Amino acid sequence: MTFSVHPVTDNFAAEIGDIDLRRPLSPDEVVALESAFNKYAALIFGDQHLSDEEQISFSRNFGPLENTIQAIRKDSRLRVRPEMADVSNLDASNNVMPANSTRRKFNDGNRLWHTDSSFKRLPAKCSLLYARTIPPTGGHTEFADMRAAYDALPAATKTRLEGLVAEHSIMTSRARIGFADFAPEEHEQMPPVPQVLVRTHAGSKRRTLYIASHAGRIYGMPDEEAQTLLAELMAHTTQRQFVYTHRWRPNELVMWDNRCTMHRGRPYDDLRYKRDVRRTTVSDVAPTCEQEGVFPDMAAAQ
Ligand code: OGA
Ligand code: MN
Repeated sequence: MTFSVHPVTDNFAAEIGDIDLRRPLSPDEVVALESAFNKYAALIFGDQHLSDEEQISFSRNFGPLENTIQAIRKDSRLRVRPEMADVSNLDASNNVMPANSTRRKFNDGNRLWHTDSSFKRLPAKCSLLYARTIPPTGGHTEFADMRAAYDALPAATKTRLEGLVAEHSIMTSRARIGFADFAPEEHEQMPPVPQVLVRTHAGSKRRTLYIASHAGRIYGMPDEEAQTLLAELMAHTTQRQFVYTHRWRPNELVMWDNRCTMHRGRPYDDLRYKRDVRRTTVSDVAPTCEQEGVFPDMAAAQ
């Protein structure tokens, strides 16, 4: 192994040193990185100087990339390539987006706890967010350790959660912040999808909770009960002892595991400062229900 691993927390976040992400990795190095990633769900690579192409090439070591859902809307002009989600507060001309911009309002949804692409039938395995420009204050990203949060649940709750499947939709999370300005093609291409509530993390074989602000209903459960349960789980998993706060430095890349974490962006003065962060997203290998062998009775949910 050529790189070095510096734990930031005991089991959840680590900095990776002595590595230049512009350089192609050997298969052994990819295996070693994956192995560190199976333990530490947030890997931090400081002092990297990446073009979009270099970020994309590094990300492809971990699987096939998603295209951004920002490309679905016919009325949007992308600032970066479709293999990247533009998480910045900048428009296609690199200016700070005005307060009334649709994409700015949509991106505000990133301030709710979530895991990336759980609203897709085939959700994300991991995300790689690279910071080119960061604001002088604020704009941190918080990560919640869903494996540790699962371990800490009472046995009775673990039993209750087995086999439950939630319905995830991007419309559900955006409704929470009062955003409903979806184009017809977005409704068409992003229908609600089922995701198990508890899954086994492939790399560590540890059980983990899998929830997000995208989750609204639970199949076969009355809505009020489901909402109470989801809110309780959200409160439990985001307690301070499960959360790592990442304070960004410029030219840093953070890679996180969407299968066993949630994250949220913290506020900053986004009408004043530029925050240029770009995300590549690697797809998981199969839908979560398929991975767990759980198939909800969709009819029972109606
Ligand atoms: C993301 C995201 C939060 C942030 O890139 O998926 O939710 O702090 N980002 O930018
Ligand atoms: Mn996100």
